[in-house]
Amino acid sequence: MNAKLKLEITKTQFEFITSEADEVLFGGAAGGGKSYGQLVDALLFALKYPGSRQLMLRRTFPELEHSLIMNALLIYPKEACRYRSSDRKWIFRNGSVIEFGFCASESDVLRYQGAEYDVARFDELTHFTETQYTYLLSRVRGTNGYPKQIKSSTNPGGVGHSWVKARFIDGAEPGEVRTTEFGTKRLFIPSFVQDNKFLMKSDGAYIRRLEQLPENERRALLYGEWEIFDGQVFTEWRNNPKGYATRKLSHVIKPFDIPKEWRRFRAFDFGYSKPFAVSWYAVDYDGRAYNYRELYGCSGKPDVGVRWTAQKIADKIYELEREEREAGIKITGVADPAIWNATGGNEGSIAEMMERRGVYFEKGNNNRLAGKMQVHYRLAFDGEGVPMIYFFEGRCAGMIRTLPQLKYDETEPEDVDTRQEDHLYDELKYFLMMNPIGPREEKAAADKREYSPLETPPDRFII
Ligand SMILES: Nc1ncnc2c1ncn2[C@@H]1O[C@H](COP(=O)(O)OP(=O)(O)OP(=O)(O)O)[C@@H](O)[C@H]1O
Ligand SMILES: [Mg+2]
Repeated sequence: MNAKLKLEITKTQFEFITSEADEVLFGGAAGGGKSYGQLVDALLFALKYPGSRQLMLRRTFPELEHSLIMNALLIYPKEACRYRSSDRKWIFRNGSVIEFGFCASESDVLRYQGAEYDVARFDELTHFTETQYTYLLSRVRGTNGYPKQIKSSTNPGGVGHSWVKARFIDGAEPGEVRTTEFGTKRLFIPSFVQDNKFLMKSDGAYIRRLEQLPENERRALLYGEWEIFDGQVFTEWRNNPKGYATRKLSHVIKPFDIPKEWRRFRAFDFGYSKPFAVSWYAVDYDGRAYNYRELYGCSGKPDVGVRWTAQKIADKIYELEREEREAGIKITGVADPAIWNATGGNEGSIAEMMERRGVYFEKGNNNRLAGKMQVHYRLAFDGEGVPMIYFFEGRCAGMIRTLPQLKYDETEPEDVDTRQEDHLYDELKYFLMMNPIGPREEKAAADKREYSPLETPPDRFII
């Protein structure tokens, strides 16, 4: 066959296609290109191994027809193969066969009794039961010497969520092959919608539509999250400091030297028997914030304060800011308005006590719901996976620990439960309310860029 195939694939599709583990799962957010990857993979396998046999499954026939069959008709080259709709098979000139099937009921697996395949492929694996999957594993065998694999693609959620998670995700490093107790190899390849430049280019509003889904579905479909739990407030939170290397979304990044010209802020929430919280933030020319330092008055036990006086806190802040002061860098302070309340003592308010030690603050805006929305807007990732706030790994451990733990109040469902360790979150809001932003706008395709705080292009978004 001389005809040339003109197909472009994404980097994760390439990883999926070239993976050699016995069982591979291509899993994650909706739209990452998983099903398309399956189709291209099956095609390449059929062309490479003459006379090979593959089975590609969806749970039900209508799903199969609307997705895989339709897309295969668009991309499979007519010079090399033809589709026989009577038994849903692609027959290749070189003798290879790709069979499309479904398994609506448990007993439907028996349709494949006696058949032998080189590769079995499950699309939307979490729609299948474990019994169906393991039964079909036994159909992958043969004496032709071709590779034998079971390759699946899926979103989290669905009836099979738990067994799929246990089989491929739990205790495994994404992208790393692991050996099972039976000596077979398993691999999980995460897929993100941002990986799919084809979709990002042609339908820029796709992510916006996913954002409107209810919480758990949104986490599963937009972020490809497997750990879905109820009640978390900042479900958009991602902590993958190696993000640049792995192309995973992350709010936590490796610290870097902050340019002297960037604006700096310090936000403060006072506490004595409960922890006090101080965080420092730098803001770049795009208005993106970086939480680069923290002084968290937590005794080591969650939510128990170190009982420092306002003077002692002020002295510590003053000390921590020495280098910046000496470099002539100005830091704007903002704090809980309650620190201006009289304390009854001779020393005046907490704010006054701290001012006498050279540490100044403006009164923060403590509107709880507006502040919470600012945190959401800042954490939101744009089409290229870049949020409006980052946290320095190792420099703001309290924030990185407590922000994702915050849960909703049961009686006040829109607000964060204030009985939690929310002190760092509170001062984060005072800071963000100084420069409120709107919801993230969808970036036009032409506006695409690779992100780096200091212009060093990471390889994160290269497809
Ligand atoms: N390599 C590619 N070249 C051209 N178009 C692609 C490519 N990969 C994916 N697409 C297109 O992007 C869209 C989403 O891809 P696909 O359906 O494979 O994603 P998915 O991860 O299976 O999504 P879901 O989780 O919703 O099943 C489709 O319209 C598909 O045709
Ligand atoms: Mg799909």
